[in-house]
Amino acid sequence: MNLVAAIWGSLIFAQFALLFALIGFIIRFGILIISRGFDVPFVRTPRAYFPKIAEALKIRPNDVVYDLGSGEGKFVLYCAQKYPDARFVGIERNFVLYVQALARKKIAGNPRNATFRRENFFTTDMRDATRVYAYLLPKAMERLFSDTPHPGLRVASRAFQIKRREPIETMELTQKKGWHNQHLLHIYEL
Ligand SMILES: C[S@@+](CC[C@H](N)C(=O)[O-])C[C@H]1O[C@@H](n2cnc3c(N)ncnc32)[C@H](O)[C@@H]1O
Repeated sequence: MNLVAAIWGSLIFAQFALLFALIGFIIRFGILIISRGFDVPFVRTPRAYFPKIAEALKIRPNDVVYDLGSGEGKFVLYCAQKYPDARFVGIERNFVLYVQALARKKIAGNPRNATFRRENFFTTDMRDATRVYAYLLPKAMERLFSDTPHPGLRVASRAFQIKRREPIETMELTQKKGWHNQHLLHIYEL
């Protein structure tokens, strides 16, 4: 009898596990499909890279740090907790990712120094930015930073360089070799 109950229990557990895996897959696939319609697809930055990126940004008290295309908001929330005297803004156009970021913010205890805006990074008002993190594509980086003056802005760009701008430093986020320099971080002072 116990054996039958155990088998039933395992079967029910397996069914739920499969259902959750399927829901997770559908959400991820949905995000990927939706994000193909945007200027840059959603590809996340591994959490293990956050400390190096935050350090490279040289975040000071009162800095205003933008993550352009902030995805699920993980980097913004990581920094908001680590640097309580600075302000962090995530700009994300994809509604599903924006909602995920808001949910994560709530779970993290609603840090007051973290804000998410569902906006287009090409048209968003970021005049208050002193630091920017971006993991975008060369075309987007060029349109955002190549010719527009942003005096004093420190930009950390993962993987891609900004055309017609010279990085002051390029660092490796890990020793692994990536397929599109995805493990490199280029630092600019504009
Ligand atoms: C490569 S992902 C980077 C996500 C996150 N910053 C990270 O590193 O984990 C690029 C993000 O930019 C968003 N995106 C693409 N075009 C956008 C636009 N015009 N305005 C705002 N966000 C945009 C995508 O939805 C996606 O989440």
